[in-house]
Amino acid sequence: MGSGGGRVAVEEVVRVRVRMVGGWYCWLLVLLASPTFTFGNRIGIGIGSRRSLLPNGLALTPPMGWNSWNHFNCKIDEKIIKETADALVSTGLSKLGYTYVNIDDCWAEIARDDKGNLVPKKTTFPSGIKSLADYVHSKGLKLGIYSDAGYFTCSKTMPGSLGHEEQDAKTFASWGIDYLKYDNCNNDGTKPTVRYPIMTRALMKSGRDIFFSLCEWGDMHPALWGAKVGNSWRTTNDISDTWESMVSRADMNEFYADLARPGGWNDPDMLEVGNGGMTKDEYIVHFSIWAISKAPLLLGCDVRNMTKETVEIITNKEVIAVNQDGLGVQAKKVRSEGDQEIWAGPLTGYRFAVLLVNRGPLRNSITAEWDDIGIPPKSIVKARDLWEHKTLNTQFVGNLTASVDSHACKMYILKPVSSS
Ligand code: GAL
Repeated sequence: MGSGGGRVAVEEVVRVRVRMVGGWYCWLLVLLASPTFTFGNRIGIGIGSRRSLLPNGLALTPPMGWNSWNHFNCKIDEKIIKETADALVSTGLSKLGYTYVNIDDCWAEIARDDKGNLVPKKTTFPSGIKSLADYVHSKGLKLGIYSDAGYFTCSKTMPGSLGHEEQDAKTFASWGIDYLKYDNCNNDGTKPTVRYPIMTRALMKSGRDIFFSLCEWGDMHPALWGAKVGNSWRTTNDISDTWESMVSRADMNEFYADLARPGGWNDPDMLEVGNGGMTKDEYIVHFSIWAISKAPLLLGCDVRNMTKETVEIITNKEVIAVNQDGLGVQAKKVRSEGDQEIWAGPLTGYRFAVLLVNRGPLRNSITAEWDDIGIPPKSIVKARDLWEHKTLNTQFVGNLTASVDSHACKMYILKPVSSS
């Protein structure tokens, strides 16, 4: 599309945001000032490109699995990766859909070999990545790996793929890699919109379908150009294991809700559930927002040693089903009043996922109005509580009110049964 296409994207963002609370206008101003918009036609923003997808047939629903970074940082080795694969199977997590086992930064030697190939770190991955992939595949799982659109990765302990894209994509394919997370550190100063598509093309030529995860931290609004380039795109900088970090990433990610779709998802970063920095209720909020936002559900804890609470949260089939629903529409924060928020989005079968979040310090009642959710006001609605695993006895007309603890949530599927 030409420059008109860029303008359509701007208008769409404006239209969405005018419905939202005032604070978002700051965002809007930042966006309007962004070079992405000014030069929208150059990087292919427009109606035509917004609807097209990376044609690798992957990510029809958000990816699910595990990634080493949040818990282990650089302290990884092949034993941890294999034991994690074992644990995903023995705990039943793989059957629920958690199938990607993703190695993050720090898996390679600092120097390439004499042919320019990446070399797995001899002290920590002595058997090599191919053998690890074979192991992970033998368990019915998939193996992910990590590189960087720069000269070195963020840890600076291994090379990035800039200038070696085709060679590295071929290496990954020959090892049997199924997922590539591609970071943005130590680059040459050119835009991500230039550097990332080079790897996209390399992966498409590699002979293997590899999920491509753009880890560009949201700097150049990858939601606007990422669908042609990758299967998911980070919309935020790194999460940490605190309530404030988690909810702020949820908010930043929500801004781009209209731009997620089957094949390409907004990514507010990996889950911290089970890492110990939040209360059980806060982790339930974290998991619920990620699920309703159609975010990748990539566990970031040590799945070999989980508490009962952690298992209970991440194995909630009803919440996972919201995330994996075939309609693939990311929920929005449809209303917020002070610390009380209502998130909602449509599901298949004329159903609606609704999340009531209390971000305040005191217990409070929160009301979801049909009008805000997009249900005709007179509809009679059945409600299923996804954390209590109960269909409520009452049927609701017009709205639903619940009392919600501080830093906690209630999550429902609403199903209109008729109009009164
Ligand atoms: C960051 C990235 C993290 C992790 C880390 C590794 O840039 O956002 O998720 O991959 O690098 O060094």
